[in-house]
Amino acid sequence: MNSKYAPLFESFTFPSGVEVKNRVVMAPMTNFSSNADGTVTDAEVKYYARRSDGVGMVVTACTYVTANGKGFQGEFGGDRDELIPSLKQVATAIKEQGAKAVLQIFHGGRQCPPELVPNGEIVSASAVPVEGNGKPVPRELTDQEIESIIHDFGETTRRAIEAGYDGVEIHGANGYLIQQFFSPHSNRREDRWGGSIDKRLTFPLAVVDEVKKVAAEHAKAPFIIGYRFSPEEPETPGITMAETLVLIDALADKNLDYLHVSLQEFWSKPRRGAEDSRARIEIILERVGDKVPVIGVGSLYTADDVLKAFQSGVPFIAMGRELIIDPDWVQKVKEGREAEIVTKIDKSKQQDLVVPDPLWQAIIHSPGWFPGIE
Ligand SMILES: Cc1cc2nc3c(=O)[nH]c(=O)nc-3n(C[C@H](O)[C@H](O)[C@H](O)COP(=O)(O)O)c2cc1C
Repeated sequence: MNSKYAPLFESFTFPSGVEVKNRVVMAPMTNFSSNADGTVTDAEVKYYARRSDGVGMVVTACTYVTANGKGFQGEFGGDRDELIPSLKQVATAIKEQGAKAVLQIFHGGRQCPPELVPNGEIVSASAVPVEGNGKPVPRELTDQEIESIIHDFGETTRRAIEAGYDGVEIHGANGYLIQQFFSPHSNRREDRWGGSIDKRLTFPLAVVDEVKKVAAEHAKAPFIIGYRFSPEEPETPGITMAETLVLIDALADKNLDYLHVSLQEFWSKPRRGAEDSRARIEIILERVGDKVPVIGVGSLYTADDVLKAFQSGVPFIAMGRELIIDPDWVQKVKEGREAEIVTKIDKSKQQDLVVPDPLWQAIIHSPGWFPGIE
């Protein structure tokens, strides 16, 4: 290995006590490949296995915690005990290759396609649709339903423990239900779940508390609890960088194992709400200090892209698309073969790359989404 990359291969012990062998994480990526009943397919289990012997930790695709939170065709389910064997197949495939397995737990809220949820009824913090023509208006959740969804996040955490995962990542990013409660765009409530910024934090923090409570009750070994958030929203009103810093302060007090900043571009700059010309990740790292480890992500492809990002001070780098394009990324860096890393998807290599058909079709029919697909 070229010695400059050695810091990426140092082990790290999370606050919970779980040790990971290196600093490279597979980012959560939906693969559209599960069965309609929420069970996983052999193709997706093989896809995870193919990508789990280099990285320190794999965060799975998101799994819905309750039926009306299913956000994608072919999403796997975590909402019923009968799905524990299916959840276990993924955990086992990842762990057998030597990586830690973290289940991403999720509710899609107003972003769920109506055809995927019971009675076609989508729900959210308030009856405010996603911006854009013809987007369905969600039904505002009742107080009791909100309590029930918080409980469901805990129940899926229990299933993750029973299925053998090393941890869960709470999906508070990318505009889904947890973010919908924090956002002044989607949360117009005037009860205990909305109004002031503190009240908009109530639901995200209640989910964190519930997940922690369940982990303390059920996990027999150290268990990772991470939280993923998106730093800003483009809409007005919408989450600003200043509001994100309030969220970070609240999360940093929760003794989490990590915060995962969801970004398309690692070095992207704030749109508004920060009197600062630095990259979002730099502002976030300064605010977090040494309170909780941070995972950074976004359009990192080469070994030097990752090293430069790592030198910003984040203890972990996640990669998504690049690990689909080149599942041997970590091994190549480790063996001094970083020049052989592939950074554009080769359309003739689906079998070698072990990518299930639905994900492959989504990739090759989405120009601009993956390098190599024009
Ligand atoms: C195919 C695909 C599916 C994704 N699904 C999820 C998901 O389930 N949960 C999530 O938090 N982010 C999801 N993302 C976002 C990625 O985790 C990541 O933040 C983003 O792709 C930027 O990182 P990258 O440039 O390394 O791919 C997905 C991205 C891709 C490409």
